[in-house]
Amino acid sequence: MTTYAHITGWGMHVPNKILTNAEISKMVDTSDEWIQERSGIKTRRIAGKEDTSASMGAEAAFNALKMAQIHPRDLDLVIVSTSTPEHMFPSTASIVQNQIGAVNAGAFDISAACTGFIFALDMATQAIRSGSIKSAIVIGTETLSRIIDWTDRGTCMLFGDGAGAFVLQASEKPGGVISSIMRSDGSGADLLSVPAGGSAQPASADTIAQGLHFVQMKGREVFRFATRVMAKASQEAIDKAGLKIEDISIFIPHQANKRIIEAAARGLKLPIERFVMNVDKYGNTSTASIPIATVEAFEFGKLNKGDNVVMVGFGSGLTWGAVSLIWTGPLDAEKPVRFGLLSIFVGIRSFLRKLIRWIEGLIWGRWIPK
Ligand code: COA
Repeated sequence: MTTYAHITGWGMHVPNKILTNAEISKMVDTSDEWIQERSGIKTRRIAGKEDTSASMGAEAAFNALKMAQIHPRDLDLVIVSTSTPEHMFPSTASIVQNQIGAVNAGAFDISAACTGFIFALDMATQAIRSGSIKSAIVIGTETLSRIIDWTDRGTCMLFGDGAGAFVLQASEKPGGVISSIMRSDGSGADLLSVPAGGSAQPASADTIAQGLHFVQMKGREVFRFATRVMAKASQEAIDKAGLKIEDISIFIPHQANKRIIEAAARGLKLPIERFVMNVDKYGNTSTASIPIATVEAFEFGKLNKGDNVVMVGFGSGLTWGAVSLIWTGPLDAEKPVRFGLLSIFVGIRSFLRKLIRWIEGLIWGRWIPK
């Protein structure tokens, strides 16, 4: 009996603060007109002090769980894709796992930059299809505003913060993720990176003075790479699924630049209307962009039951990949989950854990030898 991995819940979360191009033009030498013409971006969301990659990821995850009608304790796996993790370790996934109360799940992060969500989706799918697990949540979350050099006009206007999540569940009903491709070319590693803060160049006064903890990008080269791989990766995923391009109802591409998405449409000889686009509102939210675009595509009626969908991404690494899937929506829940009570319970438990950690800190603080 074949097991399929269905996307049964989807959710997003973006911070409240909207940063406009006009505001950016007061920070660096640029203009609303230039940014819109070269990237299609009008606004992006910026994390507040209280927002972190884990907190936004947990919000998105909770919304996805509500949609799927699955209790967090029934999750087997939490995968977080992020380039802005909370720490070097522990993983952001472990923090999210605790925040949502996924007490029976394993949790780990993957690092594949903007392609990360596609790779994470593929990993969760393979785990479900192999029979190893029955359910997973895949989260893409970023607080890129914290690693952007706000004096660099070549990068600061491009990026934004936010999170998106999918719940995946096993079912014998055909559907869900059908094919995927994952690719990487590390020879382009220097085209888009945060050079310092890792083991190659640990944090020091010198690396900070040189701004090496910020995103460094060779924009033109990344643009050329992106336009080369988007159409190719989509076509490969379609071929692998045994489909034809005309079978695909909608493409959900990584939202980096309107011109890159238009180039992909031209490469596939398709009208731009077949591509979901919301880069104007959120900018490039890296690994969060595909799930955020999916949530909005569904809300605006662009995603319907039975649709063949292609999701395609590219990013630092260099990395790129695509998945082809059948959009089936939530499975019939065995019994409805009461999320009102669950939300209160998760909130109280998270507060109690913080309180316990604080008390432990007080006690252990006294015992640590000076
Ligand atoms: N405002 C005004 N001028 C700017 C500017 C800004 N914000 N940023 C760069 N410029 C200038 C450059 O200095 C350059 O001037 P010069 O010709 O005098 O040297 C000129 O505009 C053209 O720069 P260029 O880099 O060729 O522009 P572009 O058309 O390639 O657009 C990007 C720049 C960044 C929008 C584009 O290269 C891009 O989107 N690249 C991909 C980035 C990406 O997707 N990264 C994430 C991958 S997941």
